Amino acid sequence: MKPLFLGFGNAANVILKELEGYIQDFYYFDEKNVTSSKGKKLEKFFIPDDCSFVVECASVEAVKEYYRDIIISNKDFYILSTGAFADENFRNDFFRFIENSTSKIYIPSGAIGGIDVINAIKKYIEKVVLRTRKPPKAFSRDDKEKMLIFSGDSIEAIKRFPKNTNVSVTLALSVGDFRKVHVEIYSDPKVEKNIHEVEVVSSVGNYKFIFSNNPSNNPKTSLLAPLSLAALIKKNFENVKIGG
Ligand SMILES: NC(=O)c1ccc[n+]([C@@H]2O[C@H](COP(=O)([O-])OP(=O)(O)OC[C@H]3O[C@@H](n4cnc5c(N)ncnc54)[C@H](O)[C@@H]3O)[C@@H](O)[C@H]2O)c1
Repeated sequence: MKPLFLGFGNAANVILKELEGYIQDFYYFDEKNVTSSKGKKLEKFFIPDDCSFVVECASVEAVKEYYRDIIISNKDFYILSTGAFADENFRNDFFRFIENSTSKIYIPSGAIGGIDVINAIKKYIEKVVLRTRKPPKAFSRDDKEKMLIFSGDSIEAIKRFPKNTNVSVTLALSVGDFRKVHVEIYSDPKVEKNIHEVEVVSSVGNYKFIFSNNPSNNPKTSLLAPLSLAALIKKNFENVKIGG
């Protein structure tokens, strides 16, 4: 296995460490002048013939800038910056573009979980509620008590809180309908971490998941997010697959 990392910051390095023993070598490309003692640095973005798959852990802009090159190469494409799919025009272009490619697109659960349940019961879902609680400073606020600062569907949430899009977009993509995902955002002085509660209401059953994530070296990125992408890569190379 010889992946190409598009973006070589905090998440890429977590993924790389998790893939020890799985990958022989790797390429990396970053718009900043980052260097590594291992792997081969690309000075400009292209997809080497012997690269096995592409792992994006850069930014929404990078997904939008390079997706066509990656898909044309027919390499599999793992995307961490799922916020890119908040843009409806991009989303439509992207899904139209992959129709003529043999690339497989992998979108990890990221900073949450429960996507296996949502995938299994997708057509029976009535609604999904995402309740996100963060310390007031995450919203540049100074609340002394818990405040509901947003309540609406995921489309509106994405417009109003673009820095909080990855989780709501991943949920909306898995549900297959952005309007079925209701988002509530709380500024809460009692919490120190970012907490996501996901409630699923369906005719199969009702489910509630709570994710209290520790940050990674990049305080904006939960450690769970790159770990979930690394787990997805490993799962694709294992003979026994556990969990949906
Ligand atoms: N899916 C999820 O739930 C989830 C959760 C957390 C973070 N993320 C996303 O993962 C991504 C990476 O996070 P991180 O903690 O590694 O960030 P980071 O800032 O540590 O690293 C990102 C690296 O990508 C590079 N980069 C950015 N845009 C680029 C471009 N257009 N071309 C080339 N290189 C580019 C930067 O220079 C940087 O070195 C972010 O977009 C973040 O929003 C997703």
